[in-house]
Amino acid sequence: MCGIVGYIGYRDAYPIIIKGLKRLEYRGYDSAGITLFDDSSTVVKTKGKVSDLEQTAASHDNKGKTLGMGHTRWATHGIPSDLNSHPHLSNSGKIAIVHNGIIENYAALKKMLSDNGFHFISDTDTEVLVNLIEFIKTSQNLKVGKAVQIALTQVVGAYAIAVIDADRPGEVVVAKLGSPLAIGIGKDEYFIASDASPFIEYTKRTIYLDDNEMAVISREQGFKMYSIINDKVITPIIQDIQLSLETIEKGGFDYFMLKEIHEQPHAINDTFRGRLLVDQRRINISGIEHNKEIFKNASRITIIACGTSWHAGLVAEYLFEDAARIPVEVEYASEFRYRNPVINKGDIVIAISQSGETADTLAAIKLAKENGAFVFGICNVVGSSIARAADGGAYTHAGPEIGVASTKAFTTQLTVIIMMGLRLGQLKGTIDNADFDRVAKQLAALPKLIESVLAYDKQIEKIAREYKDASNFLYLGRGYNFPAALEGALKLKEISYIHAEGYPAAEMKHGPIALIDKNMPVVVIATNKGHYEKIVSNVQEIKSRNAKIISIVTKGDESVKLLSDHVIEIPEVTEALVPILASVPLQLLSYHIAIMRGCNVDQPRNLAKSVTVE
Ligand code: F6R
Repeated sequence: MCGIVGYIGYRDAYPIIIKGLKRLEYRGYDSAGITLFDDSSTVVKTKGKVSDLEQTAASHDNKGKTLGMGHTRWATHGIPSDLNSHPHLSNSGKIAIVHNGIIENYAALKKMLSDNGFHFISDTDTEVLVNLIEFIKTSQNLKVGKAVQIALTQVVGAYAIAVIDADRPGEVVVAKLGSPLAIGIGKDEYFIASDASPFIEYTKRTIYLDDNEMAVISREQGFKMYSIINDKVITPIIQDIQLSLETIEKGGFDYFMLKEIHEQPHAINDTFRGRLLVDQRRINISGIEHNKEIFKNASRITIIACGTSWHAGLVAEYLFEDAARIPVEVEYASEFRYRNPVINKGDIVIAISQSGETADTLAAIKLAKENGAFVFGICNVVGSSIARAADGGAYTHAGPEIGVASTKAFTTQLTVIIMMGLRLGQLKGTIDNADFDRVAKQLAALPKLIESVLAYDKQIEKIAREYKDASNFLYLGRGYNFPAALEGALKLKEISYIHAEGYPAAEMKHGPIALIDKNMPVVVIATNKGHYEKIVSNVQEIKSRNAKIISIVTKGDESVKLLSDHVIEIPEVTEALVPILASVPLQLLSYHIAIMRGCNVDQPRNLAKSVTVE
């Protein structure tokens, strides 16, 4: 996590860096800092958000400095505080660093440096790294670029760093392992950032550093890239960024989360455009077509993911088993990577990740590949580490998701999964034409159906008002609606801080039913497909314990309606598509409750969008 931004060129660096940090704030917002450098350098840093940094920096002269770098932090080593904020300076004050990642062997390095007379004022691993660079630079009489390269060969962990040294004014050194780093190439100017969003209004030309790559960017000598491992010069690959400014701005909405909820019809359309060919009875996902034989011969699939993406994986389990008769296991990436999973040559592992940077998912992919698996990635962020590590894959094309809570990323992951289920069913010969046509047609109609559900916003806001002060919520569903219940509960807890749990409805009587009384709101997803009568019975059981019932039902429902205190109707669709439609009112419910409780829904406490630490 953490976001880093840097600039070297001819413009004022300060506004570029501040604006860039605001765009990267989704990566962490515990503290922020900036250093500007020309003839002399200033470092300003503070606990809190980039807006706090702006206030603190207002008393400094920030004008006329054309080189600088900034940082927005998600705390790992050391509490959020002014001292632990980046940039960190070396003991001489000459070298400054911003860092996204974790230096795992920092304790041993710190001891070695202390033995050599270095002192430390923060609790961070980053301060150790900047002093290691200084130690190597001074003890071996090297330029800072070479010292960075040697230092990084001694480091265990993950990093994206930018380093400046007062002895080399007009130069920035950057390097990457594990955490993302993009370099924007302008005319006589360069931008550095954790993703391309801070510089898209200045240049579309970018280089995404690969692991173990570094670059020295100099005013006089331009840009040179090297391998950290052997110091060899690397020829950079410059790409054109496909990102537009509107997609990363709020576009009239109060919060990114609300914008992203409302973007879902459009986003889902983008996900299936050119891939869902209803009339031809065809799904055209190139990542599958190029690996058709592998999927055709699949004897089992393991899905690895975290958080919301893991919930999408659960839907895939139900669908792939149902439509393609392939056994599927869904695993938390963080558990998978640390046990001794049975993965054999030829196994298929599907990794699902919005950001494409989640450290546990990435590590799980590496493990799966080492064991000979074929890895298929479902990612949103184009060119992300997971997308690149996979053997094949499908992008969700949801566009940038900036609100920390996943909304459109989830429903577009599900859209990819539905298309995959249909195609795998065809490849395996386990889905008949009538079923294929029915699901494909309904999928194509989803954007319109979602529009109709979004129209219930005011009704949902009213329900939110009634329950905003609850301390606990339960979310229940069966079959495909069980993952939707888990996702609904996660959404509520992460942005409103109300304790919420999702359960398979029938599991209630094995324990959680003890929690139910008149103060417990229970959200039930009780649509008419699947095990409708069974869930009606479950709702009866809750009703008899006086819980408040908020139900998501199919339009025209009678039975659940009678038992419920509040009803939200969604259009009738096949079971596998319900989690997409049901998620929309659940997102809105969480959103409104969180807003009414005064929470910042885009930046919930303790969270970050891109979890690049394990
Ligand atoms: C919740 C949420 C997280 C992410 C999880 C995985 O709203 O967004 O639970 O789903 O951190 O992130 P990705 O999908 O980027 O791997």
